[in-house]
Amino acid sequence: MKIIVLGSGAGGGCPQWNCNCAVCASARNGSRMIRPRTQSSIAVSPDGKRWVLLNASPDIGQQLRVQPILHPKQGLRDTPIKAVVLMDAQVDHATGLLSLREGPPIELYVTPCVFEDLTTGLPILTVLEHYCGVHWHLLPVAGEQRICEFTIEGFETLRFRAVAIPGKAPPFSPHRHDSKVGDNIALEVTDLRSGKRLFYSPGLAEVGPNEMEWMRGADCLLVDGTFWSEDEMVKAGLGQKYAADMGHLPQQSTPERRGMMDALDETGAARKVLIHINNSNPILDDYGPERTELANRGIEVAYDGMEIAL
Ligand code: MLT
Ligand code: MN
Ligand code: ZN
Repeated sequence: MKIIVLGSGAGGGCPQWNCNCAVCASARNGSRMIRPRTQSSIAVSPDGKRWVLLNASPDIGQQLRVQPILHPKQGLRDTPIKAVVLMDAQVDHATGLLSLREGPPIELYVTPCVFEDLTTGLPILTVLEHYCGVHWHLLPVAGEQRICEFTIEGFETLRFRAVAIPGKAPPFSPHRHDSKVGDNIALEVTDLRSGKRLFYSPGLAEVGPNEMEWMRGADCLLVDGTFWSEDEMVKAGLGQKYAADMGHLPQQSTPERRGMMDALDETGAARKVLIHINNSNPILDDYGPERTELANRGIEVAYDGMEIAL
């Protein structure tokens, strides 16, 4: 299985258009080694020819333009992207669907909660009916059902498993403050030929026993790297929200909760990679002390264009 990181940043990317925080400013003026990042999305493929998009970021136009492997290959209109799976209905993960409107109907795999949010609070799917249209493939993660296994036509050598995870619905969702099973999923993708597993979870509020079991089963983890610390946004004067308010688990532990670094230490994955990194996060500095700490623990930081072979 091949994996391409199309976008490794959180909402806003880095530098964010209106942000002068220490990281964004350094990214602009070049005083520190901080790479620009677009908003989070990855693509997976069994053969490098047919690809499934996991999340569709508003930066998708740019992301596809710079990725020759995802360019049209034959005929007048063509795309190697055959299906899209969304982890949630967040703006940074879903609005890229609008930029796919010139293509064939979108083969879209989402939970009922995400379908509902994308036909009400943010009615992207309704809008798309006036363009390419959408074929909705229901991922039955809702109510009592927390896991669903599925295949995607044309991708028979890959097995997909969606699992409900702790997180938050987007701010425009009617259940923002009343989380439902299916608001947020993580995706496990197994290459049935090699048996290798990817676990993708760009928005993860907590690593409890269930999440830990999934993470322990993976060869490659691409998980929530949004914030270094719980109060990062507040301390930098960028907002009033804490990581927990936004449904993200920071890398650092606090006495109240174990952070992502300590959780990753308990997994045996060959690749432990942080993705969906907010522009306030000091790990974006390639030579900063936070990066040294991650490196010492065998944790990588995703960057746009990163390729992983599993
Ligand atoms: C989040 O995951 O909390 C987002 O990146 C917020 C956003 O899209 O603005
Ligand atoms: Mn986000
Ligand atoms: Zn910033």
